[in-house]
Amino acid sequence: MGVPDLTDRDWLYGSGQVSEIEQTILWGIRSGHHKSRNFADMPAFMTREPYKRYAIDPLTPGEIHDVVQYIFAAQHRPADRTAAARGFALYLNKGQCADCHTTDLRGDNYIGAPSLLDDVGLYGDASESALFASIAYGRSGVCPAWSGRLAPADIRALAVYLHANVE
Ligand code: HEC
Repeated sequence: MGVPDLTDRDWLYGSGQVSEIEQTILWGIRSGHHKSRNFADMPAFMTREPYKRYAIDPLTPGEIHDVVQYIFAAQHRPADRTAAARGFALYLNKGQCADCHTTDLRGDNYIGAPSLLDDVGLYGDASESALFASIAYGRSGVCPAWSGRLAPADIRALAVYLHANVE
């Protein structure tokens, strides 16, 4: 389901400050609330129109394979070097991956684009097929907004608890 681990220091949005966690709980992520975190989705590259927010070209299954090999190589995992070299060009240009995941693959915690360098798999186990599925079919995880359902003081208490609970 792409539900992140809340005990590690790997934050999708922000850097784990209490106020940032509180904002996520208050307004949610892609919750439908106008204040929710909703800056970007993961495009579905194997569809005819991969992204609703702006134009991005589709990728073929072979191109997605090449990009996955590039990510593997960047993570120092065994990879097909020739495919990875092609994937590097796709990452920067046609796929526009760097726009969201940055040129160094560390991700952008302002828009919720995860790092592709660690083996923390938001979706699945960070295997070749898990990465392929995210790139081919897209991702758009949701966290509900709790504003109006929990008391503001309780939301603050939850944020402090989560902040204190990281390993
Ligand atoms: C418009 C911004 C955007 C672009 C362009 C984009 N991504 Fe993403 N990507 C995201 C967001 C946001 C998520 C997290 C989605 C979620 O939280 O549900 C994500 C998630 C992922 C994941 C899942 C990571 C995990 O830990 O499970 C992978 C893999 C990925 N992207 C690879 C790519 C690759 C490769 C490209 C280029 C071919 C690309 N992305 C282009 C925004 C983008």
